[in-house]
Amino acid sequence: MLTTVHTVQDLRDYVGKARRSGQRISFVPTMGNLHEGHLALIDEARQLGNVVVASIFVNPMQFGENEDLDAYPRTLDADKKGLEAHGCDLLFAPSVNEVYPAGTAQETRVEVPGLSALHCGTSRPGHFTGVATVVSKLFNMVQPDIAVFGQKDFQQLAVIRKMVLDLCFPIEIIGVATSRENSGLARSSRNGYLSDAEKKQAAQIYQILEYCSTQLIQHDASLETIRQQAAQKLTALGFRIDYLNFANPVTLEMAKDGDPEIVILIAVWLGNTRLIDNMTVSLN
Ligand code: PAJ
Repeated sequence: MLTTVHTVQDLRDYVGKARRSGQRISFVPTMGNLHEGHLALIDEARQLGNVVVASIFVNPMQFGENEDLDAYPRTLDADKKGLEAHGCDLLFAPSVNEVYPAGTAQETRVEVPGLSALHCGTSRPGHFTGVATVVSKLFNMVQPDIAVFGQKDFQQLAVIRKMVLDLCFPIEIIGVATSRENSGLARSSRNGYLSDAEKKQAAQIYQILEYCSTQLIQHDASLETIRQQAAQKLTALGFRIDYLNFANPVTLEMAKDGDPEIVILIAVWLGNTRLIDNMTVSLN
């Protein structure tokens, strides 16, 4: 049975009891509007821990001024049903005031330099500081043994791994493969902003990832040539490119010809909706 709590005190009471009885706590932070991708993380958490805690919190600190904070879908009742069906034990759904009693402007921040400035960090300044800050707060509130994140947000996962290492959080971080529609479209709460026609179009992002992957493996052209060809295709398909980069999967620095592993990172605009996706390719 799913228990829902809204305060840090109630969360600590529940998790504290579980920990004192020797249970392993696994944690899945989310912003809600849960889809199969989120629920796959819950399934993984269920495998790894005895008590599964999920959070739903649309974190204002990670949204830019002109971004979709107000429009972001909030579907708590449906989310609870999904969590319950997948065996989640505890949902922590705090208010903004519960998480940021001093207001987002006055709070201590957690900044992961380097990684946070690349790729999404260029077009969303401050975004990863908002993510690192809320995730470290949630980690301190829940105090899990394990936390599960999606590879869909590849850079976010890298930022969190670095933060956990640098700040010595005693938490094991698990990454789960991207869950996709049959069309290849990566599941995302923001897909709800798309019309049916746009969803079909958005599925082409996966085709471009596959195109890049095939070209990289064939190795007939330089990284930059492949990148430019793929960018032209994306533009021809009607996307406005935020970035299309080939990077080192750990440092996220730009990849060089001859690198053995490359992550293809894509962020595009389709109308007013920004979509991201990625694919890691092994070139050995
Ligand atoms: P949100 O976008 O709700 O995503 C919550 C978790 O679900 C993240 O770890 C994300 O990578 C994962 N996820 C989303 N779509 C997925 C998919 N198609 N396949 C696999 N995993 C998927 O990411 C956030 O929230 C926030 O930034 C958060 C970490 C909660 C901090 O506010």
